[in-house]
Amino acid sequence: MPPPADVLKDMQGDIWPGLGKSYEIFYLFSIAKPDDFKEKIKALADKGEITSAQGALDKRAQNRDSDKPSPSAGINVSFNSEGLKKLKWDDRSLPRGKGLKERYFKEGAKTDTMAQGRDDPDDYDDWMKNHISGKKVINGLFLIAGNKVTCEEGVSFIEKELGDSIERIEAIEGDVGPEHGFEHFGFKDTISQPFLEGWDDASDITLNYQCRPGVIVVNHKGTNGFDEESRLWEPDWAKNGSYFVFRKLEQDVEAFHKHAEKLANDNSLGLNLNAKQLEARFVGRWHSGAPVELHHSEDPGPGYDDNNWDYEEPYHELHCPYGSHIRKCNPRNTFGQTRDKDLSLIMRRGIPYGPRWREEDDEETKKQPRGLLFGCYQSNIQNGYSTIMNRWCNNDGFPLAGSGQDVLVAQPIKGAADPKDQVLHANLYGLDPDGKPHKLRDGKHPEEKKRRCDFPSFVKARGGEYFFTPPISFFTKMVEAL
Ligand code: HEM
Repeated sequence: MPPPADVLKDMQGDIWPGLGKSYEIFYLFSIAKPDDFKEKIKALADKGEITSAQGALDKRAQNRDSDKPSPSAGINVSFNSEGLKKLKWDDRSLPRGKGLKERYFKEGAKTDTMAQGRDDPDDYDDWMKNHISGKKVINGLFLIAGNKVTCEEGVSFIEKELGDSIERIEAIEGDVGPEHGFEHFGFKDTISQPFLEGWDDASDITLNYQCRPGVIVVNHKGTNGFDEESRLWEPDWAKNGSYFVFRKLEQDVEAFHKHAEKLANDNSLGLNLNAKQLEARFVGRWHSGAPVELHHSEDPGPGYDDNNWDYEEPYHELHCPYGSHIRKCNPRNTFGQTRDKDLSLIMRRGIPYGPRWREEDDEETKKQPRGLLFGCYQSNIQNGYSTIMNRWCNNDGFPLAGSGQDVLVAQPIKGAADPKDQVLHANLYGLDPDGKPHKLRDGKHPEEKKRRCDFPSFVKARGGEYFFTPPISFFTKMVEAL
């Protein structure tokens, strides 16, 4: 059962069901002439050019129909707190209590990520350096999604319609590439997403956990599990909107594979894992997408990328390490959670950028930048992305003391006084000589078989920002307030 018709019309389509894409352009802009921009963006919304959830469903249907031409690109728009300030839609300009509440959004990504001591500003791309130095401040983001041709048409369309009311800061291109659905380290991605209760097709139970729509979409049931009194309940105008976290994450694919190789060949560790088996333990899934929790020793190959499972014994890490990426990012039943465990679920909408890394390529090609344009929606950044990244992935003590960090995405504390904090580590169990996992002894882990493996970070943040993706009704309200 899809969301009610009024929600389908009002919510931007990338939040749900997602803009269909083989290519996507993240178009960062500043607002040069705010009043002009307000009129023009409203006119676009009125013409149906800002793709709603219903619009996204229609484009998907058109794409499936081989008798019809490809649909035009889906277009969505979001603003950061600087953008809303420029549009006079912030605490200072709106009546008391009418501004957005989310603390991390208001502070902006630069304050949050840098305050954690984990992003290195020297790694940032020029557009991000200019943003944080105030030289060229980002105000908003257009997501333009379709195929390469329709996306390029989408950019021309926006620039023509909005004219000099905006200024382009950067247009970052993502491409799913020939390995559709696989990210650069070689793993199947886009498997696990929250299943929105009452909105997603109930016959499509690919997930074992459901999520109330309010965890992702502002002011719906599940926004902190309470009602309008909730501290996370946003002002009325924001209903059907969502916070969007964007991070450009560069992946060092060669270092990732080489490090797995090195650990596999390290006899002093004696993990009895080859490089592929180690990589699978870093992710928590095999390259095909099959979960390590269910397939302990070998990749069963395509067709086993299930998502309808929980960790068999939540305190058990002999199959899937606590530090594996998927266990850090979605602990599922690790704490025997109650219903509110879903408060930290996020709707991921990433796409890879840059060419694929291949062993046989020349050095020049191998060095080209590549990575993930990571994006995710949630109704509260503090509960969603920020909890996952800062309190879980970067934290050696999550879920239990000594769990290690998320090998895939954690960032060490650069320049930390304790040299141990300058590298990442995972604590791993290997396999018995017969290729099977070690067994629990009297319900306890054979701790003496656990090995600490240090890691450099394989991912660098090149930039990013926290945005709010407003409901489509917002554009009319903004113009009426002129
Ligand atoms: C370059 C960076 C990243 C890579 C290569 C990557 C890769 C992957 C892969 C291969 C999966 C398993 C497939 C799937 O379930 O779809 C996955 C799942 C997931 N990732 Fe990432 N990821 C990255 C960054 C992030 C970040 C920054 C976050 C959030 C802070 C995140 C959150 C998640 C979540 C929530 C899941 C689903 C876990 C589950 O429900 O089982 N990822 N990622």
